[in-house]
Amino acid sequence: MSETRSSATPAVVRLPQYTKADQEEILGKSDDPFGVASTGLTWLPKEVHFGIRHQGRLVAHTGLLRLPVSAGDTRTAVVGVGGVAVAPGMQGQGLARLVVTAALEHARTMGPQHALLFCRPPLVPLYQRLGWHPLDTDVLVEQPEGRLVTMPLRTMVTPLRDDARWPPGPVRLLSLPM
Ligand SMILES: CC(C)(COP(=O)(O)OP(=O)(O)OC[C@H]1O[C@@H](n2cnc3c(N)ncnc32)[C@H](O)[C@@H]1OP(=O)(O)O)[C@@H](O)C(=O)NCCC(=O)NCCS
Repeated sequence: MSETRSSATPAVVRLPQYTKADQEEILGKSDDPFGVASTGLTWLPKEVHFGIRHQGRLVAHTGLLRLPVSAGDTRTAVVGVGGVAVAPGMQGQGLARLVVTAALEHARTMGPQHALLFCRPPLVPLYQRLGWHPLDTDVLVEQPEGRLVTMPLRTMVTPLRDDARWPPGPVRLLSLPM
């Protein structure tokens, strides 16, 4: 009888860079890989990248970027999380959990008390499962030419420290969204 192979947890690695080709290696070529093109929004690239490789191929990614934000009277910073992606053939196996969790471990070293992300409404339960909370308030974000728009996607936050409390009041990202 052949021995059952043990399936070790895949390693999450910090990526030195993350290009369009890297994203296409994960999600394939698509005009709208994240399903958000209908928002017409301009997004910022992320600065810190984590990924998972499987048999030499990049199969998962999460990006981070520190951004200024105001909530009520509080001006602070968040770690923006974006570009969360898992290769279609590898979805549903916990890879998003792995790569997001590793990215958040790093986010805890970046200073801000919270991480923040934007997602389509169907993904809210997935991120809740990973410990994120949807914000109940509208969130303003900047766009080119100084335009200010209400984010049409859901905004979710998660604390990066045990004592972190999201400040009450209207929320405004003082930058383009990530
Ligand atoms: C969204 C995406 C990253 C999820 O990747 P994934 O590897 O399939 O996700 P995981 O398997 O790690 O699932 C994470 C958790 O959410 C849970 N989950 C998944 N779908 C869920 C749903 N509809 N409702 C509730 N929980 C859900 C999983 O059970 C898992 O929880 P567990 O670890 O406690 O079992 C992937 O589908 C993807 O790349 N989509 C295309 C790009 C995209 O839209 N990215 C999102 C940008 S915000």
